[in-house]
Amino acid sequence: MVAAAIRSDESWHNDAMPIPPTPPVPDFLYGTAWKEDRTAALTELAIRTGFRGIDTANQRRHYFEAGVGEGLAACYRDGVVTRAGLFLQTKFTYQRGQDHRLPYDPAASLANQVAQSLASSLDHMGTDYVDSYVLHGPASGHDWTEDDAEVWEAMRKERAAGRTRLLGVSNISLEQLEQMLAAHGEPPGFVQNRCYAQLGWDREVREFCRLHNIVYQGFSLLTANVPVLRHPMTQDIAQGTKASPAQVVFAFARAVGMLPLTGTSDAEHMKEDLASRSLTLTPESVRAIECIAG
Ligand SMILES: NC(=O)c1ccc[n+]([C@@H]2O[C@H](COP(=O)([O-])OP(=O)(O)OC[C@H]3O[C@@H](n4cnc5c(N)ncnc54)[C@H](OP(=O)(O)O)[C@@H]3O)[C@@H](O)[C@H]2O)c1
Repeated sequence: MVAAAIRSDESWHNDAMPIPPTPPVPDFLYGTAWKEDRTAALTELAIRTGFRGIDTANQRRHYFEAGVGEGLAACYRDGVVTRAGLFLQTKFTYQRGQDHRLPYDPAASLANQVAQSLASSLDHMGTDYVDSYVLHGPASGHDWTEDDAEVWEAMRKERAAGRTRLLGVSNISLEQLEQMLAAHGEPPGFVQNRCYAQLGWDREVREFCRLHNIVYQGFSLLTANVPVLRHPMTQDIAQGTKASPAQVVFAFARAVGMLPLTGTSDAEHMKEDLASRSLTLTPESVRAIECIAG
């Protein structure tokens, strides 16, 4: 389980609402993007292999959320896991990030789009709550806008109603996080960003997360960092620890406080990625990888 404590969000729940305990956050998330008609089978396989955190989005363009639901149902049916044993995370995506297969009425207000999108996600996944609901990305590449503020307040209402336990935001810059905190007086529970070694592994955003007790979720750790995987130093560390370069990168990510995602479609890689949890790098190796490219 991830060491960073997530602040209990119970204070935002309505008093009349029974409050489910905040679940522990798993130490690896299995990402379900780009799997199309293999989504159900791969989600099921990931859970059977040992993943307990699932990341998806109600964005049919890149995710097949109903397929995730089918994979979950197969696991429940065979007694592999119960709903309470899983951490389910999905996202609200603005219309400009979608194709024509929208999970809401585009004529509705943004607040209503959030409610409709989450209702559809719950239906897709056969559950009455998710563990984490994430804004897929702010409306602008620069600022935290009024649209973002409307969406975020709607997401907070969903949390107050018990339909999500925690909230997060993705594809966000340090400046936007600062503006968001100033506007709402509350940091998100999660930040999910693409993590480039060239950008110091998103060092500034990670530092903001550390200061505000936010769990930083890193994606594209392998695909965005091929030069790191091929770097002689990574290869040396891998050889010295009898691990693969991919495992070294995931172990590094955890060592610097990230919650990593993997989107592997390969059964052996699923096992390998999970096994990285027992790989501990020396502080020197962690520092060396952190400085490899930026
Ligand atoms: N918030 C956002 O905007 C956003 C954007 C992108 C992704 N995501 C989330 O993050 C998830 C993961 O995406 P990602 O970009 O990190 O990963 P990804 O591109 O889905 O896949 C990881 C890549 O690494 C390879 N791989 C995995 N484990 C490996 C291993 N042990 N050895 C060698 N190769 C390995 C995989 O190949 P094999 O399949 O052959 O193993 C695949 O090519 C997505 O599914 C999605 O849930 C979110």
